[in-house]
Amino acid sequence: MRGGEQSRGGSEDTPRGGPSTSRRGLLRGALIGTGGLVAGAAAGGATGWAVGSEPEPDTIDLGRKYPFYGEPHQGGIATPPQQHTVFASFRLADSAGPRDLQVLLARWSASIAVLQDGRTVGAVQPSSPVQPPRDTGEASGLSPAGLTVTLGLGPAVFGDRFGLARFRPARFTALPKLNGDTLDPALTGGDLSLQACADDPQVAYHAIRNLARIGRDAVVPYWSVLGFGRASAGPGQQTPRNLLGFKDGTRNVTTDEQYSRFVWLGREDQPWAEGGTYQVVRKIRMLLETWDTDRVGDQQQIIGRSKAEGAPLSGTTEFDTPDFAARTASGETAIDPKSHVALAAPEHNGGLMLHRRGYNYTDGLTADGSLDAGLLFVAYVNDPRNFVTLQNRLGANDLLNEYIRHIGSAIFLVPPAPAEGHYVGEALFT
Ligand code: HEM
Repeated sequence: MRGGEQSRGGSEDTPRGGPSTSRRGLLRGALIGTGGLVAGAAAGGATGWAVGSEPEPDTIDLGRKYPFYGEPHQGGIATPPQQHTVFASFRLADSAGPRDLQVLLARWSASIAVLQDGRTVGAVQPSSPVQPPRDTGEASGLSPAGLTVTLGLGPAVFGDRFGLARFRPARFTALPKLNGDTLDPALTGGDLSLQACADDPQVAYHAIRNLARIGRDAVVPYWSVLGFGRASAGPGQQTPRNLLGFKDGTRNVTTDEQYSRFVWLGREDQPWAEGGTYQVVRKIRMLLETWDTDRVGDQQQIIGRSKAEGAPLSGTTEFDTPDFAARTASGETAIDPKSHVALAAPEHNGGLMLHRRGYNYTDGLTADGSLDAGLLFVAYVNDPRNFVTLQNRLGANDLLNEYIRHIGSAIFLVPPAPAEGHYVGEALFT
């Protein structure tokens, strides 16, 4: 352990209450804590939803650690999704120059490595009582919880201000205005991004809070989203559900071949960025009260899949390949051509795919008492035009548009992970 760093405790050696916590156990605890929901779960079982059958034991290993150094790619992209996330977009301070940016990337990288290893970023209890602690302390005693922190650089980093224009990949610009955009300027753009994902929300929050604190001379927090509910852990795993109640992530980039083709950047444009990717972030509010009044048949038509199983409406099981030509007995197409999956499917977009790794979010209630919640859509692509093409198509025609509003948006270049002793983006300064 290096000077100033402390074990948070609860690593593989000293897990907090044992390294694994049963997710179903946690869920059961939560249900018992809110008596009314127990009846809801029982009713769900009676209707034949997944809760009716006993799945394989499903556990989360809170002792899991992901290395930061020496990987071809940063964590949090191809890493199996953890339960919770905190995403934060930052603006560089007006006074920050190239040297400040370089120091920030070096300090953030060293701190992320320590945090992912389950340690604090410095003393929680300083030797002098007049010193503030270097680490804020709320993760002391907590396990690593599979933390990953993904660091991204916004388009402005490659402007003239930092002398880095020659390192900008030709396709990397701010996203243009897209069909269906109703963006709030306070939730749009940013010069740097950090996304912490972990199986313990406090571990994720602690990481972003401390990194923001470490960077406060160079960056100002701009907008952030807390997300939940995306884990797929253990042998009983299921595709997670979004807040519309549908499985989300069934057809996604999963194979090495798909990652190479659609996600990881090659050397052709900017060799320094090889192994990196673009992170597209959209905060999409769902109009849940309206959705919740809709019949399940309508909901299924809008998505193009069944709600309980997640099967394409042309098939019967979740992983059946959609047949967009299939017809019902009455002669209509089984999957509506304006359904979300019909418009987004590679079959209708020249074969293109995105790696989607989103989270549900809630900000509580709006001023008028409606649910303020939705999807923190995060996608990874090696060509931003692929996202632009898809969103323009969805934004113009998707039946889902009646129930969603794109309110936040940003794009970042996520450089490859550094080698041991180096930092993210170091190639820009050598
Ligand atoms: C709140 C907004 C959204 C919701 C609720 C939503 C929900 C879903 C659901 C339920 C599926 C079907 C299951 C699956 O294959 O994963 C799906 C598929 C998909 N979505 Fe979305 N989505 C949203 C926004 C977007 C956006 C903004 C994009 C891209 C611009 C997108 C791209 C896709 C793609 C590419 C698929 C896979 C289609 C296929 O290959 O069959 N989605 N989405």
